[in-house]
Amino acid sequence: MFKKTPLAAGVAAFATIIFAGGCAVADADKSGKVDYTAMTPHELAEYLMFEANGGGGFNLSQEVQEGGTARERMQQDELQKACSIIDDGKPDAETLSAIRAAAQESIVYPEGGIKLGDWKKGRELAWSGFGYRIGHNFDDHSKREAGGTCYNCHQLATDRTGGTVGPSLTGYGKTRGTSDAILKYAYDMIYNPHVYFPCTHMPRFGANGMLTEEKIADIMAYMFDPESPVNE
Ligand code: HEC
Repeated sequence: MFKKTPLAAGVAAFATIIFAGGCAVADADKSGKVDYTAMTPHELAEYLMFEANGGGGFNLSQEVQEGGTARERMQQDELQKACSIIDDGKPDAETLSAIRAAAQESIVYPEGGIKLGDWKKGRELAWSGFGYRIGHNFDDHSKREAGGTCYNCHQLATDRTGGTVGPSLTGYGKTRGTSDAILKYAYDMIYNPHVYFPCTHMPRFGANGMLTEEKIADIMAYMFDPESPVNE
């Protein structure tokens, strides 16, 4: 669950020059004094969002589903650090290929090949925002299973309104077909999209353990099944 994917040396070297936002803020808190002038704009933004006024809407000391606390989850992994470089725009070519290689290595394919599951279950999962949210409380998986929150960023079937952060997936199966290559691409994208888009904002649903193989198969059925409303 939420494995920290180790990256090759290129990224590790990059990571050392990244701002250490979380640590600076935590140190300031311990001493009881907060020196805003010592913070970079990035650190200040993080501080105001997560720490000021007792954390605002966030309770970062709460335990989270995968173990540890919400504060620990806020620590960036190597990939996130490398992709957070704002001065130069994006990581160098070597780092980008290290990210892609590590992402490819993280992908576990289903035994017997990639198959489509049940599009009706997939529809529920794709339109569910219940997952690993943190705030005042976390999403309690004993009450409801975690979904995929795809709708937050993608338009899916047009019977509801989805987000526009990512491209529309409406008619995905109808326009792309269901060749082995396109099924593998979609599986990879859901499992760990950093293979194709090294600094994407799309989550690593499989690599992070947020979606099981079975749930990915159901969501893929929702995208590809000719009976699915996505392909009407
Ligand atoms: C936080 C936003 C976000 C979420 C949540 C998200 N995606 Fe994406 N997705 C993107 C972005 C952005 C892209 C385009 C790649 C890029 O430029 O980073 C993308 C690309 C894709 C693509 C490739 C599209 C193409 O043209 O072939 C697929 C397939 C996809 N997403 C499926 C999903 C599924 C299924 C889910 C839910 C399990 C999901 N996405 C959740 C942001 C998101």
